[in-house]
Amino acid sequence: MFASSRITAKGIPLAALLVSFSCVGFAQQYGKKFAPYVVTPEHAVDRMLELANLKPGETLFDLGCGDGRILITAVQKYRVKAVGIEISDHLARSAAEKVKKEGLQDQIKIIHGDFMKQDLSSANVVTIYLETTANDTLRPNLERFLKPNTRVVSYDYPIPGWKEMGTAEAKGSHGFSHTIYLYQVPDSINKK
Ligand SMILES: C[S@@+](CC[C@H](N)C(=O)[O-])C[C@H]1O[C@@H](n2cnc3c(N)ncnc32)[C@H](O)[C@@H]1O
Repeated sequence: MFASSRITAKGIPLAALLVSFSCVGFAQQYGKKFAPYVVTPEHAVDRMLELANLKPGETLFDLGCGDGRILITAVQKYRVKAVGIEISDHLARSAAEKVKKEGLQDQIKIIHGDFMKQDLSSANVVTIYLETTANDTLRPNLERFLKPNTRVVSYDYPIPGWKEMGTAEAKGSHGFSHTIYLYQVPDSINKK
């Protein structure tokens, strides 16, 4: 019998305890992954950025930037600056490589980390493609960091508790229509 399958005093296999301790350590160091990697199709990226009404010189943050496609399109089409935050090591590296290949290192910064632990206050536009429960968890951070009039564009999932100021539709990778939600941080936002 392997040592790791021995039953501990509380009846929990030692292997399960070791795995759970190492996962806690991982979560504390790197943060929680709120959504799996699914790309936003390019035509939906275009619709998201149109809805955001980006102006030259503004700064866009993509929270969970995947391969960096939203950042690269935004910078190339709208002459903005962009910051991508990505928890996956290999996606953060691949986004940084794409940015370098396009020669956009001066305009785009890729942060390998947890967007829940980052200061978002320099954003004029935030894009997200997460899930409704993740948006709900993220909302207090958006309310804490974002300046009045910052736009937040969410692909496919609403932000619970916020009222959208507009929506658009775009076909997803499998041909089904997805809603894009546009929000704007109100002037009256109460900073805690
Ligand atoms: C649905 S994908 C969207 C990718 C990209 N924004 C796009 O639209 O193509 C969600 C991304 O969020 C990343 N992610 C999930 N939780 C995160 C966290 N806490 N901090 C940073 N990135 C995270 C995932 O690794 C994944 O790449």
